[in-house]
Amino acid sequence: MKTLLQINAGLQGADSQSSRLADRLADALLAKAPGAKHIKRDLSQDPVPHLDHGTFQTFFDPGAAVTPAQKAGLSLSDTLIAELKEADTLVLGAPMYNLNIPSTLKSWIDYVTRAEQTFRFAESGPVGLLEGKTAYVAIAQGGNFLGTPADLQTGYIKMALGLIGIEDIEFVYAKGLAMGPQAAEAGLQNAYQRIRELS
Ligand SMILES: Cc1cc2nc3c(=O)[nH]c(=O)nc-3n(C[C@H](O)[C@H](O)[C@H](O)COP(=O)(O)O)c2cc1C
Repeated sequence: MKTLLQINAGLQGADSQSSRLADRLADALLAKAPGAKHIKRDLSQDPVPHLDHGTFQTFFDPGAAVTPAQKAGLSLSDTLIAELKEADTLVLGAPMYNLNIPSTLKSWIDYVTRAEQTFRFAESGPVGLLEGKTAYVAIAQGGNFLGTPADLQTGYIKMALGLIGIEDIEFVYAKGLAMGPQAAEAGLQNAYQRIRELS
């Protein structure tokens, strides 16, 4: 591993379980790769704005970036994509908020999923352009939805990362965090064990 890009999306600062798990995972991976670069973004402190019409126009035609907002939006997308391209390892901290990933993480995905940059359209459908990357996704959820139709996170993250060519994905789940102290502790211990297995 040469470069690890970590994206935390938990809203609860130091109490954010998904961020803590992502930190633990990143630390464990970095401990095995002395000298590796660590790029870290906390989307609750430094959010990626919703993608709007003006910025989206610039994704297809950079020359369309004329307003300060468009220039800033295109520049942010370029920066986020450059970080992702540089990384061989991606760690996402993804809490479940209202049954899915936080909108801040969705915004990050919207800014890095760009035609001719991270995927291209082909006759067979979209083709991911990123290669050779491994993603680790730490999911924290209050309930226990794994394996049920309400697990809208796992499938979405697989599809969204797969669209840009990241298909080697490992998940760490901390489930049942709002189901009482015993369930929460068991959920965290399972996640710690999984992190030990992965690192
Ligand atoms: C705004 C909000 C929405 C939530 N929605 C859900 C939900 O739909 N399903 C669920 O199981 N837990 C839900 N929870 C509980 C969180 O998944 C749980 O607290 C988890 O630890 C969140 O990750 P975090 O600690 O990184 O913020 C929600 C929590 C918050 C703050």
